Amino acid sequence: MAASETMRWKAAALAMAVAVVGLAAWIVYPYARSLVIPPESTAAARGRELARDLGCFTCHGALGREGVPNPGSAYGAVPTFHEGTLMMFAKSDQDLREYILDGAPKAKRDSDSYRREMNEQEIRMPAYRDFVSERQVDDLVAFLRASSELLFPPEGLPSEGEELAHELGCFQCHGAMGSGGHANPGSLKGYIPGFYGSDYRELVQNDEELRSWIEQGGIPRLTDDDLASYFLARQRVKMPSYGDRLEPDQIDALIAYVKWLASEEWRGVGF
Ligand code: HEC
Ligand code: HEC
Repeated sequence: MAASETMRWKAAALAMAVAVVGLAAWIVYPYARSLVIPPESTAAARGRELARDLGCFTCHGALGREGVPNPGSAYGAVPTFHEGTLMMFAKSDQDLREYILDGAPKAKRDSDSYRREMNEQEIRMPAYRDFVSERQVDDLVAFLRASSELLFPPEGLPSEGEELAHELGCFQCHGAMGSGGHANPGSLKGYIPGFYGSDYRELVQNDEELRSWIEQGGIPRLTDDDLASYFLARQRVKMPSYGDRLEPDQIDALIAYVKWLASEEWRGVGF
């Protein structure tokens, strides 16, 4: 074989090898990506991380649950983001956005009595306008609403389901109002998924799957798959099966509630 011919043959072999490796990489890419890319989780879970990074918890306490004492304030302390407290200060997502961006909603900032009140107190809400993007404000608002439980399901099954979800501790694992994101070592994504957002859509594709998760603690689509079942068995926290422990109408209520959360109809609705 002439030298140039050998070289041409080697080049062709190399091109072929690159193509094969490329194809293999393309096929495993979705799995590889879901393993290495940082959690997407839900807007509220991202907002929770962001609130920590922006120092919100320094004044509002860990997860916004215990405000630091605030001498001169009528409330004695910085308000929390917990159990509806936000409702005393804000009425809508827009108000929450303005708290974050400008330190308070415009109507308040324009009021003399509010300004006087704020000047009396030692600690004031900072304006984060130059420190956050639009998308980050959305995430923070989602976190604030979930942690303050300001999502109101319709009367009937969905609201019964919410009450039951509180009683059964679903939020303990799935985050405030199913906002997701608590750590779960050994699981595919590293955290427990929420009841809405991209993880939920991947894991719950129809009503039968939702029922199966709640009744059996899993779905055939995953338990019958080698890779998925590896992670299901390995994850330290597992979904309990409630099938034998609840009445059929209680399961229906949980399904109605989770479906309502997943529809994200609560977004943008005032409170
Ligand atoms: C330097 C302390 C401080 C920091 C840091 C801070 N806040 Fe505040 N925040 C306050 C104070 C004080 C108030 C009360 C203002 C009032 O009475 O109107 C407040 C009020 C609020 C309110 C409305 C009332 C409520 O129920 O909490 C929201 C919402 C809020 N802050 C969100 C945030 C977010 C989100 C961050 C982080 C991006 C943040 N705060 C960081 C001090 C702080
Ligand atoms: C001890 C923690 C724990 C409790 C309590 C719990 N879950 Fe789960 N749940 C999990 C784990 C872990 C998964 C599996 C995630 C996976 O396999 O990736 C899961 C999965 C799910 C899923 C499907 C995936 C998704 O996106 O949410 C639904 C729906 C669900 N749970 C609903 C509920 C409901 C409703 C309750 C309360 C009745 C509840 N869970 C209580 C841990 C828990």
